[in-house]
Amino acid sequence: MSVKNITVFGAGLMGAGIAQVAAQNGFKVVLSDVTEKALQNGLQIIQKSLARVAKKRFAAVSGQEGDGEGAGWTREVLGNIKTGTDAGQAVSSSDLVVEAIVENLEIKRNLFGFLDRKADPRCIFASNTSSLSIGDIAGTCSAERLTRFGGFHFFNPVPAMKLVEVIKAQHTSQETFDTLVAVAKKMEKVPVSAKDTPGFITGRLLIPYMLEAIRMAERGDASPQDIDTAMELGAGYPMGPFKLLDLVGLDTTTFISNGWREKAERGEIPKELVAKIPMLQKLVDEGKLGRKTGQGFYNVS
Ligand code: CAA
Ligand code: NAD
Repeated sequence: MSVKNITVFGAGLMGAGIAQVAAQNGFKVVLSDVTEKALQNGLQIIQKSLARVAKKRFAAVSGQEGDGEGAGWTREVLGNIKTGTDAGQAVSSSDLVVEAIVENLEIKRNLFGFLDRKADPRCIFASNTSSLSIGDIAGTCSAERLTRFGGFHFFNPVPAMKLVEVIKAQHTSQETFDTLVAVAKKMEKVPVSAKDTPGFITGRLLIPYMLEAIRMAERGDASPQDIDTAMELGAGYPMGPFKLLDLVGLDTTTFISNGWREKAERGEIPKELVAKIPMLQKLVDEGKLGRKTGQGFYNVS
């Protein structure tokens, strides 16, 4: 199936990035969120990132920053993005919906149940969830839609990270899977195939690692700074786990951990992976959510 029009739900860190790379690669994008303020936040993220990309792409050509060619390209990319808070209208001519809203199963299920009644029956639905089951998220959709429902998991920061995990859930058709792979490639990403298991490939390894790093600091075994330095210089990671936690968002990390607790209750993952972490909860309670609020484990303003 040919995809031209993409609707992205959620104009936060991930939705903004996904809308940007789609628009950069010629797709017509509608970016939708619940408030105008959230949409403005998303557009700001996109503009900041585009300035960075344009500076790099066009500096070699012109030797100057922010001049005509870069500005023209930026205008063209932004011209591919429309925004709106009316979810029904946002999917009225959509070929593909990519959902990147808050990591909460019930909220995602409600959105997809609503969209299932509004979107064209041929429209493909996909979720960018980090940790929830695609089958569970899709559960409010019709049997027909389930064949057109898959996982489409991007990485943060989306414009810089090359990977997309494409998840074939129980009912995802081969055609849907192939279409998502083709869209990922057109977005200049490298797709890998993953099953609908907790955290897919990357999250199943990264989430326990990040949570264990907080527990290590909480036990007083080492400071966050020393743990980061150790993993950067000793293991070659581009950023240590605390810098990564601040990048991902401590709210999102908490939602992921809470969601996984239910999976642990069902025996899908070991319970000790998701035991509550007071140090993380305290920061979230104080509104210190990482880069998005200017403070998390580090002061990042
Ligand atoms: N927009 C556009 N480009 C960006 C960007 C952005 N927001 N952020 C970084 N870049 C680009 C830079 O322009 C630069 O490009 P070139 O190499 O072509 O010049 C490149 O990315 C590297 O950026 P910097 O030189 O500024 O900084 P860096 O070398 O420190 O890299 C980083 C920054 C890419 C974020 C790197 O630190 C990194 O890879 N960190 C790990 C990120 C990671 O693990 N992400 C996954 C999180 S988990 C997840 O996403 C899944 C989940 O479900 C929770
Ligand atoms: P975020 O908090 O930055 O943004 C979430 C956005 O969703 C907000 O703008 C919010 O207003 C909006 N939203 C909430 N309910 C909505 C609804 N019903 N309809 C439309 N918009 C709604 O979150 P994020 O970090 O962008 O994460 C979004 C999704 O992507 C989550 O499922 C998360 O697990 C996943 N993800 C996150 C990362 C990461 O590093 N942060 C990486 C990969 C995947």
